[in-house]
Amino acid sequence: MDNVLIEKLNLLLKQVSIISLFKDHYKVLHRGGSKYTVQCPFHKDGNETNPSMSVDDDLGLYKCFACGASGNIITYLREKEGMAFKDAVLYLGRRFSIDTSGFFTKKVSHRDMLYAQMKKINDFSCLFFAKTLLSKNKNREYIYSNAVEYLKKRKIPFSVLKEFKIGLAPPKWDALFNSLKNVKDIEIKNMFDVGVIRESRKAQGKYFDNFINRIIFPIINERDEVIGFGARSIDGSEPKYLNSKESILFKKKHVLYGINVARTSIMKLDRILVVEGYMDVITCHKMGVTNAVATLGTATTDEHITEIKKYTSNIVLALDNDEAGVRATKNAIYNALKVSAKVYIIGFEGAKDLDEYFSSKTKEDFDLLEEKKLVWYEWLLMTSLEGRLLNDVKIEERLSMANMFHRYLSCLESNTEKDLILGYIADKLNIEYNSLKKDYQYKITNGGNKLSKIEGKNKKDDYRKYENSIIYLLTINPWLIPTAEKEISPDLLKKDIVREFYIRLLTLPSNADFYQALNVLANENVSNRIKSKSDLYKEDALDKLNELIVKIKGDDIDNKRDTLKKESIASPLKSDEGFEAICDKAREIHLLNKQKEKLYQGKNL
Ligand code: CTP
Ligand code: MN
Repeated sequence: MDNVLIEKLNLLLKQVSIISLFKDHYKVLHRGGSKYTVQCPFHKDGNETNPSMSVDDDLGLYKCFACGASGNIITYLREKEGMAFKDAVLYLGRRFSIDTSGFFTKKVSHRDMLYAQMKKINDFSCLFFAKTLLSKNKNREYIYSNAVEYLKKRKIPFSVLKEFKIGLAPPKWDALFNSLKNVKDIEIKNMFDVGVIRESRKAQGKYFDNFINRIIFPIINERDEVIGFGARSIDGSEPKYLNSKESILFKKKHVLYGINVARTSIMKLDRILVVEGYMDVITCHKMGVTNAVATLGTATTDEHITEIKKYTSNIVLALDNDEAGVRATKNAIYNALKVSAKVYIIGFEGAKDLDEYFSSKTKEDFDLLEEKKLVWYEWLLMTSLEGRLLNDVKIEERLSMANMFHRYLSCLESNTEKDLILGYIADKLNIEYNSLKKDYQYKITNGGNKLSKIEGKNKKDDYRKYENSIIYLLTINPWLIPTAEKEISPDLLKKDIVREFYIRLLTLPSNADFYQALNVLANENVSNRIKSKSDLYKEDALDKLNELIVKIKGDDIDNKRDTLKKESIASPLKSDEGFEAICDKAREIHLLNKQKEKLYQGKNL
């Protein structure tokens, strides 16, 4: 047995309990601590009247003082149950819910090798791009002068170019590919997997560079490893940014662009500035705002926050100044509060992002802005008021603003903090504090389950009704449609008619009202039913939607898991391939379980 296998085995043995296995079949007497006396399985057919086998559950060992049998849980399964070693390990995995996939495969070391190869390819490419950008001809002129001009126009100084290792993918089909081919020990398949080359659609086996005529922003993790690239077009071609594809090296939802450069400053200042794009990070650094990182796009995921929490618990958000930015900010707030981070928001006007902001502002301007940053609840209120005076806001909307906070407040641990924030909201919305607090507490003690009120107590699997509810809810509250669209993809809805209605609702303009929604459904029968339920679905609409999202997504996960389980039972265990297939399935089931767990913790919402 090789060392890796021994290590894995030791870990497994630590996680199982031999006593709990014996208890299923034999008489067990507890002698104190981890020591037991057990009816010996090995003599008298396991039917001896006076137990004579001594077992130490912590050590995982047994010894029979009558027949001399001794060993650990694996020996037991082999000698008594006649299992092969492999089967014994798998059995233990199932019995004790331990992930044993990858136990016998060489996957771990294979994966390490792959990782190293991919890194090598990225390192080489990174250097290649950087050299290309600054390459000169005999007359000492830049060969790719348009790219250099572009960067000049965007006011990126040479020192920043170097710090961020910015480069250029030249306007050629296969410049990088040809260079990579000359590097020893690099396989084409790995170049492809890491995403620096792609296969020709017309001619199989013919490869091209993936990035052509683009400025390259290497994406470097906190261990200074180049894990991927962001590539911006400079000739107007679409998409504007092309990123490395997902691989074991590059996982977009974990990436904090700029963390390699910003890390020290984040720790020193004990706060991080989260922005949206590559150029925002770069401009911030150039201006001396050195704790900026980007989440590359709009979503700040749980994974991002987990990465951030390694360095600081103080998160300052300065995402783009548009609708998507506001949505992303709300999501980021929620994800951050869940892990007890402190969240603040910087609001800036007259610019679409920080990069643009700095085209006319100084570091001092920014510092003043940062001083005026809002705490998350201040920002949420301000954003929903949209500059209106309270008198101009309908009661209905004020109520939904107050309700909007429940979701966020439920993340907080400190009751005092919740109390203070409730006081703030009551004050700002001119609501009586005690009523607000009572409502909030009512929701907490009732588990927040709004759906049961509508649907009765059919807790389990009556998804049909849930599916109907989503149509009722969205028609009655069309302002929730964009949120629903983000979370529920139509194919998650099983009933054809519900899916059809849902898709119709998605086609509505963003400010559509109740009557427009009824219209687009174009079904009198359904319209009448919806009208009759209008009151029921108006109250706590957002909470209801969130619950429906959990139900629908949870159902989808259940289905996927059931299918996988059926498949693994059906596949033959004999061959190594069959075995690996089952391991893969087990791993997928495990992941789905995790996903579901997360969903029910209110994550992903
Ligand atoms: N993004 C992406 N793919 C796209 C568009 C955007 O990955 N097709 C990511 C990039 O990380 C980008 C960020 O989302 O930096 C923000 O997008 P956007 O605001 O459109 O771009 P800017 O950062 O403003 O880009 P630039 O200033 O270069 O125009
Ligand atoms: Mn920009």
